[in-house]
Amino acid sequence: MQVHVIDVHRLAKILPELQPEEIQVLQTLEEMTHRFKYAPVQEIKNRIAIDGEEVLFLLSKLNKKGLVQRKKERYLGYLISQVGYDALALYDLAQKDVIISLGQPYGVGKESTVYRALDVDNQEVAVKFLRWGRTSFRRVRRLRTLKGESLHSWMDFSQRAATREFAALKMLENAGGKVPRPIAVNRHVIVMSSISGVLLLNISELNNAQDILEQIIQQVRLAYHKAELIHGDLSEYNIFVDENNEITLFDWPQWQPLTHPNALWLLRRDLRNITTFFRRRFRIISDVEKTLARVIINPNEKKRND
Ligand SMILES: Nc1ncnc2c1ncn2[C@@H]1O[C@H](COP(=O)(O)OP(=O)(O)OP(=O)(O)O)[C@@H](O)[C@H]1O
Ligand SMILES: [Mg+2]
Repeated sequence: MQVHVIDVHRLAKILPELQPEEIQVLQTLEEMTHRFKYAPVQEIKNRIAIDGEEVLFLLSKLNKKGLVQRKKERYLGYLISQVGYDALALYDLAQKDVIISLGQPYGVGKESTVYRALDVDNQEVAVKFLRWGRTSFRRVRRLRTLKGESLHSWMDFSQRAATREFAALKMLENAGGKVPRPIAVNRHVIVMSSISGVLLLNISELNNAQDILEQIIQQVRLAYHKAELIHGDLSEYNIFVDENNEITLFDWPQWQPLTHPNALWLLRRDLRNITTFFRRRFRIISDVEKTLARVIINPNEKKRND
C-alpha cells in the first residue's frame, strides 16, 4: 500500500512535464487494453498519427517514468501501468480545472487512497483513487459478471467502483443526505468535498452517543426512502463525527438499490455493525430487528399510525 502513496507523489511531479504526445500514447494504450494485454508496438504505431520512430522514443520515455510496462517475449509490447492510468485521470481532472494540485493522503484504506487536493479556487477537496481487484477479489466478485471486461481487469473494476460510488453520492446529495459532496469522477478517481471530523472508530468517549446513533439511523432511513439505496459496507470505519456532532457517511462503492435480492440482508448487516459497535463502545443497547423496522417503515404509514 505504501508503494502507491509514493507513486502518486512521484506522479504529481512527473505530470506537469508530460508532453501532449506522451498523453496521446498513454490514451492509445488505454484504448487498446480491450484487445491486448501487452499491445504490440506495430499496432500502437498503426493507431497513432505520430511518426513510428517517435512513437518508439515516447514509449521508452514513458517506460522510464514507470507509466507503461514493457515486455519482450514473442513480440515487443507495452501495457499502461497503474501510475499511467492515474496520470490519465489526473491529467483530465486538471484539464477540466477540477483540481490544480495534489497533497498528502488523508487516509489509506484497504482498497483506495484518499488525498488532499486543491481546486481552482484553492479550496481543499478530497481525491479518492480506487484500487479494486489488486489486493482483494472479495469486492470484485459481483462485478466480474459484467460484460466487456478488459484484459487489464483491475483497471475496469476500479473504474466501475468509482462510477458506482459517484452515482450513489449524487443520489444521496439530491436526497439531502449527509455525505461528501460529489464533484467529479474520472476513470477510477473521484473528487469530492473534503469532510472534517474524526472517524467514529477512533472516538472512545461520547457524551451524546445516543444522539449520534439516532443520527446514523436517520441517515440510513433517508438513504432507504429518498435515494432508495443501502450502503452495504456501513460501519464505524465509514462514519465521521465532527466537533459539532454532525455525522458524515462515506465510502459508498458497495451500495445496492432496494430492488437488489439481498437488499434486506445487507441493510440488516449494516445496522448490526452499527448497533454492535454502539453497544460495545458506548454501552447503548438497541435491538437490530427493531432498528431495521424503524428504518424501513414507510414515512406516510408512520404518520397515519402516529
Ligand atoms: N471526503 C473525504 N474527506 C476527508 N477524508 C476522507 C474523505 N473520504 C475518505 N477520507 C479518508 O480516507 C479513508 C479511506 O476512505 P474510504 O473509507 O472511502 O476508502 P476505502 O479504501 O474504501 O476504505 P476501507 O476499505 O478501508 O473501508 C477514510 O478512513 C478517511 O480517513
Ligand atoms: Mg472505508
